[in-house]
Amino acid sequence: MSSRNLKELSSEKIIISPSILAADFTELGTEVSEATKAGIDLLHIDVMDGHFVPNISVGLPVVSSLRKKSDLIFDVHLMISNPLDYAEAFRDAGADHITFHIESHSPVKETIKAIKELGMTVGLTLKPKTPVEDLKEFIEDIDMVLVMTVEPGFGGQKFMHKMLDKVSTIRQWANEVNPALHIEVDGGINKDTHKLVKEAGANVLVAGTAFFRHPEGMKAAAKELGS
Ligand code: DX5
Ligand code: ZN
Repeated sequence: MSSRNLKELSSEKIIISPSILAADFTELGTEVSEATKAGIDLLHIDVMDGHFVPNISVGLPVVSSLRKKSDLIFDVHLMISNPLDYAEAFRDAGADHITFHIESHSPVKETIKAIKELGMTVGLTLKPKTPVEDLKEFIEDIDMVLVMTVEPGFGGQKFMHKMLDKVSTIRQWANEVNPALHIEVDGGINKDTHKLVKEAGANVLVAGTAFFRHPEGMKAAAKELGS
């Protein structure tokens, strides 16, 4: 894809967004080019600040380094306390899409507007304990909702089945006010859980462990999760 715009992908299409958190960081360029060959459209980049979540991952230099090597749509998941303060820097580094947390300290409406004005698509996400109703008023204004299906902060956790209700509620709301809305799920997505999230109405599947560490390789992972 040359224009790298999430809006050009249909929300009726199943999209895999591999999370580099599970990749081998000593071989990151190779890992991402192998993921690209497996036929994916998005690359999920988890940014953690050690404050909003109890872990620290990667930041701007990794995004800008990968940008030089990849034409994938960069799906940047900001698990940071002040996303509004960093949106422009991530755009400059090469982010195409930013998802931020409704629980962050940044004002939600203003942050949505700023991300759009910077020329990116915007997603809003919520932690497992946050009620789905908190998102409702923003659905019309955004390109994606990300439903966290684990507590944010770490890869390799167990999928929380209770989050499926959130996915179907959001799909119902979206059908009424924003049918183009992408619904992404993140955490514990694998060969057993992918069907459940699709049935509930999700179309963008983040997969870290089940993609980069698939025993038969990334092509097999893409096939398994995309089917
Ligand atoms: C968790 C991150 C996820 C994580 C998913 O905070 O947002 O993107 O990397 O990892 P898996 O797919 O291994 O559960
Ligand atoms: Zn994530």
